[in-house]
Amino acid sequence: MISHFRTDLGIICAFIICISAVKSFHESDKIANLPGQPKVSFQQYAGFITIDEKQDRAFFYYFVEAETEPASKPLVLWLNGGPGCSSVGAGAFCEHGPFKPSGNVLVKNDYSWNKGANVLYLESPAGVGFSYSSNKSFYESVDDEMTAQDNLIFLEKWFDKFPEFKNRDFYITGESYGGHYVPQLANLILQSKAKFNLKGIAIGNPLLEFNTDFNSRAEFFWSHGLISDATYEQFTKVCNYSQIRRQLQNGNLTPVCSHVINQVSAELGKFVDTYDVTLDVCLSTASMQSEVRNHLKDKPKIDVCVEDETTMYLNRNEVQKALHARLVGVDQWTACSEVLHYKMQDLEVPTIGILGSLVKSGIRVLVYSGDQDSVLPLMGTRTLVNALAKELGLSTTVPYSPWYEGRQVAGWTQAYGYFLSFATIRGASHKAPHSQPERSLVLFDSFVNGQRLPQVNGMTQERNPLTRLTQT
Ligand SMILES: *[C@@H]1O[C@H](CO)[C@@H](O)[C@H](O)[C@H]1NC(C)=O
Ligand SMILES: *[C@@H]1O[C@H](CO)[C@@H](O)[C@H](O)[C@H]1NC(C)=O
Repeated sequence: MISHFRTDLGIICAFIICISAVKSFHESDKIANLPGQPKVSFQQYAGFITIDEKQDRAFFYYFVEAETEPASKPLVLWLNGGPGCSSVGAGAFCEHGPFKPSGNVLVKNDYSWNKGANVLYLESPAGVGFSYSSNKSFYESVDDEMTAQDNLIFLEKWFDKFPEFKNRDFYITGESYGGHYVPQLANLILQSKAKFNLKGIAIGNPLLEFNTDFNSRAEFFWSHGLISDATYEQFTKVCNYSQIRRQLQNGNLTPVCSHVINQVSAELGKFVDTYDVTLDVCLSTASMQSEVRNHLKDKPKIDVCVEDETTMYLNRNEVQKALHARLVGVDQWTACSEVLHYKMQDLEVPTIGILGSLVKSGIRVLVYSGDQDSVLPLMGTRTLVNALAKELGLSTTVPYSPWYEGRQVAGWTQAYGYFLSFATIRGASHKAPHSQPERSLVLFDSFVNGQRLPQVNGMTQERNPLTRLTQT
């Protein structure tokens, strides 16, 4: 029904230059009100964009305009990873969207990224979240190249629907497997000569190079006290994590590696959140309710059950209706796809080199790491960015130094040349904005505004660094 409606308007527009009809393209995606949301002054849109009419493949998006002056703020696309996880579920409702679900209602997020930008959350590839392919054979083998191509088609069609954003400063951001999606899409945009005003990309705890990234896990576990000295030695010398990961993917785990990973698992235990080794885990839906109450009483506490709450929220009929969403070929909305068979060999395709070509093209690249993540730890990422800077012959423009949010250290940063920078977010998880929303927002705002991260903590009295280094 909806696609027929669009086709009719498309025909009308082919014959007459009709601004009002173009405008009504996105008026139909305007969200009146999300169930349980507090009153807000900015506009929200959601709906499907057809990627392939013949195969009936369509992407679902959720778009939030900037809280103030959206016409003068940049446009930012956000992509979660997986591969196969939802940017609406994770990015919008658990990380940096305007609201977070809490029980039956949505609570305003005070550190939402739409304070400084218009933010577009995309569920990609087809098979993720509400995005679908009617021809289910599509799900049998989806890879990075197909994903980037579909993402580009999505953007072209989305800009047709929102033409006022087409010349806007445009940034692509994401995390985790977004370390593939984001640079690959940026690269395709440059190659395709699409007339988007791409200014930069930012990726958090990204997968950039299989061996370096995954092998940094051992050191992270060990240095955070999650595994013993003896196991660390096995884990680095006998069978390392990239071997284990590769063998698990190919279904041929050797007895030696099996022994090592069992030892690691036994020492880690079942109740540590590897995406943030300092966070508590969400124990159950039942205990979640008391967590929610605690959360409301005690504001700064992080709701570790927000993912479960998002899943419940997005599966409510009235919520799907308000979002102009519907389920096609699946019974439930899930945070990560249960139908998609992603080509796992693509995990081994390095994307660090793509960052290099983006930098050379004058696209700003920010790579950041939540420093409590053991899944794609900061050490691997920092090593890769350092090596890239060296390879590109970039000199350090901001030496490795702390940056600040308020009066406290928010992380460390280093910049190379004018287009490449690295930053950690102190105390942050794999999904950095989930556990460190204020620090993440400062990083995000600095990035889209092309500003240096705050280098002073606003305190007049400097503490003597040497005293700190010598005292125990
Ligand atoms: C369904 O998709 C598969 C794989 O993309 C393709 O080979 C096939 O031709 C499609 N089927 C139809 C009926 O279009
Ligand atoms: C991991 O193990 C493989 C196979 O032994 C080896 O080639 C590689 O160098 C190791 N990586 C690290 C970081 O130790």
